[in-house]
Formats: sequence, C-alpha cells, structure tokens
Amino acid sequence: MEIKQYVLAVFSPTGGTLKVARAICKGTGLAGTEVDLCNEPEPREIGADTLLIAAMPVYENRIREVALRRLSRLQGKNGPAVAVVVYGNRDYGDAMLELSDTLQESGYTVGAAGAFVAEHSIIRSVAAGRPDAVDLKQAEEFGAQAAAKIKAQDALQNVAVPGDPDYKNKKRGTGVKPLTDENCISCGICAQECPVKAIPLEQPNTTTDACIGCMRCISVCPEHARKIPAPIEKKLTAYLQEKAAKVRRAETIL
Ligand SMILES: Cc1cc2nc3c(=O)[nH]c(=O)nc-3n(C[C@H](O)[C@H](O)[C@H](O)COP(=O)(O)O)c2cc1C
Repeated sequence: MEIKQYVLAVFSPTGGTLKVARAICKGTGLAGTEVDLCNEPEPREIGADTLLIAAMPVYENRIREVALRRLSRLQGKNGPAVAVVVYGNRDYGDAMLELSDTLQESGYTVGAAGAFVAEHSIIRSVAAGRPDAVDLKQAEEFGAQAAAKIKAQDALQNVAVPGDPDYKNKKRGTGVKPLTDENCISCGICAQECPVKAIPLEQPNTTTDACIGCMRCISVCPEHARKIPAPIEKKLTAYLQEKAAKVRRAETIL
C-alpha cells in the first residue's frame, strides 16, 4: 500500500515515550507531523495514505483512558497504524492490546506493534538513562521494518498482540498524586503543563482528583517542590528494584 507520510500521535508527560517514538518515526524514512496528546487535539481524519504511529506510556499495565480518548479523535480511514507502548522496564501488561484495540476501533489496521523501555517516570533510578543508544537503534530499525512491511502489503492485516482480552473488566489503577512542599513559589508552570488540568492555576500547591499520576508536574517544577509521598516512594522503590531488575529490551511484532 502507498504511504505518503506519517502522523505521530504521542502522549508523553515526562518525555521518555517521545524519545522512542521519534526514533521510530526517523526509521520510517518518511516525512511527518506530530500531535501532542498531552493537549486535547482537534478532531480530524487521517487519510489511508498516512501511517499513524501511536505511542503511549504504560501505567499500571494499561493506558490512561484520557490518552486513548484523545487518540480516538484522530479517526482513521482504513489506513495503517503502528502501536507503540513505552514502559519502565517492569512490564507492559495489557497496554499493547488496549492500544491496538483502540486503534482498530478508530478506523486503522494495526500493521506493527512494539514495546520499548524508558526511564521509570515515578522512580527515576529504575531504567535510568533509558532509552539508551541500543533502545534508540532498535526503535529506528523497527520504524524501518514497519514502514517496509506496510508498503509491501496490499491487504494489510492486524497483527496479534499480547494481553488479556478481558482487560476491560479489570479495574484501572489510579496512580500516585504528587504533593507540593514549602519550596513551591506558585509560579504556575505545573498547572500550565498538567495534561489534565488537575492543578488549579490560582492554587498550584494543590492537586485535584483529576490527577492521573503522570509525574509531569514533578518533572517540570523548577524548584523541585513536587514529590510523591515519601512512604510510597520507599515502597515502590523496593518493589521495582526487585520486579524491574532484569534489563528488558524491545519487543516488536511485525
Ligand atoms: C502512574 C504510572 C504507572 C506506571 N506503571 C508502569 C507499569 O505498569 N510498568 C512499567 O514497566 N512502567 C510503569 N510506569 C513507568 C512508565 O511507563 C515509563 O516511565 C514511561 O516511559 C513514562 O512515559 P513518559 O516519559 O513519556 O511520560 C508507570 C509510570 C507511571 C507514572
């Protein structure tokens, strides 16, 4: 099938997913544009001559609902898509299946899928420095392979991806809500950057229940005044030191 360009639809609150996704895009050898799903995108149609690359971080084995809802505003017209999940070296659970299902429901055929590792956005010492040079090379190679495969096929089929088909009946995690300490200068950067507007502009030292626990406020705070509660950090560090100890590399399905 003919592909003229790509559109990258990416939700990347702390930037790890974006690094992987851009390497994949580069590998396709196509020209393209980006849609930042940390903001609500305008509804639009993506033509069948365009490769949609959808890249999402994994949260508690799933993808956050808001990211999937925003993605589905880019409606496919039976064109090809690549599903990419990025996780913090523990596991990606049902996330790839959930993303692939959403893409198919939104009018795409998922011709390739991949899972890649980036630094753990809650406990940054886990998978620190990822994606590294090996990850980025693998991501670029995957982009090249996915584009070549899709171009070579006239009747593209959805790839089968791992995950429990019953994931919809499982309860989604809610994440950890960051707290603000006395170093907060009320500059409002976190409030402006929050993908779900869970921090009131007039009171940026608070966080509402709209928080999805994405850690963006922590990563953008110039005063390092936002943190997850210390007991949770301690518990999670111990858990991840055990569960994410083995270095995991790209898993790709073509
Ligand atoms: C609330 C939350 C839940 C997470 N759950 C998982 C998980 O289930 N498995 C995993 O390996 N990493 C998990 N991570 C780590 C992220 O998937 C990983 O750091 C990802 O690269 C973050 O993407 P970003 O840098 O684009 O924001 C989680 C991170 C957050 C904030």
